[in-house]
Amino acid sequence: MAWTRERLETTVRQRLGDAKLVVAANREPYIHVHQDDAIQCLRPASGLTTALDPVMRACGGVWVAHGSGDADRVMVDSQNRVSVPPEDPSYTLRRVWLTQREERGYYYGFANEAIWPLCHIAYTRPRFDSDDWEQYVRVNGKFAEAVLSEVDDGPAVVFVQDYHLALLPRMLKDARSDLVVVQFWHIPWPNCEVFRVCPWQEQILDGLLGNDLLGFHIQHHCNNFLDTINLSLEAKVDWEHFSVTRGGRTTRVRPYPISIDPEMVQSSLSFDGVEAERTIRRRLGLRNERILVGVDRVDYTKGIPERFAAVDRLLERHPEWKGRFCFVQVGAPSRVHIPVYRRLSEELKSLADEINWRHGRGDWRPILFIHEHYDSDQVFELYRMANGCVVSSLHDGMNLVAKEFVASRDDQQGVLILSQFTGAARELTGALQVNPYAADQLADAMHAALAMPPDEQRQRMIRMQRQIHDHNIYRWAGMLLSDASRLIELRQPEEEAVV
Ligand code: G6P
Repeated sequence: MAWTRERLETTVRQRLGDAKLVVAANREPYIHVHQDDAIQCLRPASGLTTALDPVMRACGGVWVAHGSGDADRVMVDSQNRVSVPPEDPSYTLRRVWLTQREERGYYYGFANEAIWPLCHIAYTRPRFDSDDWEQYVRVNGKFAEAVLSEVDDGPAVVFVQDYHLALLPRMLKDARSDLVVVQFWHIPWPNCEVFRVCPWQEQILDGLLGNDLLGFHIQHHCNNFLDTINLSLEAKVDWEHFSVTRGGRTTRVRPYPISIDPEMVQSSLSFDGVEAERTIRRRLGLRNERILVGVDRVDYTKGIPERFAAVDRLLERHPEWKGRFCFVQVGAPSRVHIPVYRRLSEELKSLADEINWRHGRGDWRPILFIHEHYDSDQVFELYRMANGCVVSSLHDGMNLVAKEFVASRDDQQGVLILSQFTGAARELTGALQVNPYAADQLADAMHAALAMPPDEQRQRMIRMQRQIHDHNIYRWAGMLLSDASRLIELRQPEEEAVV
């Protein structure tokens, strides 16, 4: 039986009983900002929020997150809560306030200048700073306070997200050992030699072992995590059951490949055929060229310069595409207070200019770099009209752009070019898989995508759509929360025995 929103809702109700569901994640799913003399509600460019919002809509509960919008405080009640989504409130967003110093050290500093590059191994050196670490510890403590006040004295499953909150599970367990705490790590886990350079590795690993269950996208990352524990801590690693026991408590480690709600993508497609495509082309200054798209946060792990270099190579090797093809890159500005991200934006602009200058003719340019945030409807329209989508991450836990592109193609056309270094590559076998470090390979894949016959496109697309239909976001959450609920059941006899 397929997993649907309804099935997830019923499963969670049955399995969690009267336990409350509390999600803790750095990024909030809805951000309120002042814009044009009014308050607007924005959806961030984040795979994590894209995936979890439909889950929370189905299950209800509370999402604890950093309130980062400049109008966030105006919208909350006295408990710092607001009901979301605004158009159909179905769960509560509880906002945590951070000072600028805390945000700088915890988010820009330790989370994104130390753990992010450490885990992605995309050849950007991690930066370890003790003040950043101090803020990271402090902010994890603030999240712990907010979560504990939400669960009150009652039973609860706390579902912690990602690398911003590695210390939170241990803090929660120290305060309330009866809570079921599970965490999903949305980015890769590197091999143990890489991780061991972190000066606070023991504290991070100890924090994560506060979880009853710890999830990664793929088995390989689970294995890397267990290897890291083996090398760094006094703990018993059980390779048969994929678990770690330390101080009498066990953490289970499992793969749960994250996904999307393909029906939600379909239903938000406002694309109505030829006229709509004509309007978009006019707006972007495009004629009848074939289009390949890329949609990413501007992040060095996404392989965007590699993509532009491959366009350059494609036009050298196949000049017949000059004037007949355009690469449209939508790049949402991201983490802009970190120097390496600012430099990447500049690099991309000048690389696009350089390649456009080299190959452009008249008013035709091979690369259109749109350095702004598109909302999901605009993104889906672009996917739907393109001949292909390029996902060339140098390393990526999963990558949901690939899955959204596939879900948007109700015409079963379009080619996905997908980096072999994404978690998604294991599932989306109908894609043209590439090594993004190899410019020739990526250029060849672009050529093959632009020239692929409709029948072959259809066969590949149908295969990938089936996979996403059967392995959607409701399945991901259903499997993970069912495993978490089994831990509640397992715990009961233990507690009775103590009494
Ligand atoms: C990745 C991380 C998420 C994060 C997203 C956007 O997908 O795993 O935790 O939300 O990037 O990044 P940002 O820093 O803007 O939240």
